[in-house]
Amino acid sequence: MNFVIPGRENLELRLREEADANVFFSLIDKNRTYLRQWLPWVDATKTVGDTLKYIQSCISNFEKQESVDFGIWYDNQWVGSIGFHYWDKINRKDTIGYWLAEDFQGKGIVTDSVKALIKYGFEKMNLNRIEILCAVENTKSVAIPERLGFTNEGVCRQNEWLYDHFIDAVAYSILVSEWERNK
Ligand SMILES: CC(C)(COP(=O)(O)OP(=O)(O)OC[C@H]1O[C@@H](n2cnc3c(N)ncnc32)[C@H](O)[C@@H]1OP(=O)(O)O)[C@@H](O)C(=O)NCCC(=O)NCCS
Repeated sequence: MNFVIPGRENLELRLREEADANVFFSLIDKNRTYLRQWLPWVDATKTVGDTLKYIQSCISNFEKQESVDFGIWYDNQWVGSIGFHYWDKINRKDTIGYWLAEDFQGKGIVTDSVKALIKYGFEKMNLNRIEILCAVENTKSVAIPERLGFTNEGVCRQNEWLYDHFIDAVAYSILVSEWERNK
């Protein structure tokens, strides 16, 4: 299930393993201030034990086919996360979420990882629709579905509670028919 991103031999998506808990937690801890600008779970990740529990839930959800969650590895270092988080089999759709450590931004790592995940979702998970929800003001995140030809479907108002306030999100989607046409 782990795979190297085509054309980028140093970029790999690897399924979660319990043995990664320490490196995973260290990276979150180092990037706390930067990540909490947009991600609601950072403050609740206080110890390696919290990260281990998260990894265990990813492994269990993967086994139950409820979600598919990868670590992003660049030059053999763990640099971020990406996954399908809400696998809806009846309606054949899922939502991609992602984050990257601050120092690794600006290299197209997430754009290329999302591209690979789209292919995986349409070819291996039999999805019809893939969604990405980005906070309206998170310009770096919004740029990713824009760059990959997703359709902007409008704003979901007060979509997420971020520590002390609600934030609005832009909903993006791509359909398998569109992806087939443009690949
Ligand atoms: C959102 C986030 C993943 C974006 O990171 P990023 O580095 O901008 O995204 P990518 O890895 O796709 O890289 C795109 C950048 O690399 C550049 N780039 C270099 N090579 C590239 C390539 N081969 N393909 C695409 N872009 C490339 C792009 O020009 C762009 O740079 P720019 O921002 O200066 O225009 C990151 O800022 C993050 O994790 N933020 C905190 C958490 C978060 O917001 N998560 C999303 C919640 S919805």
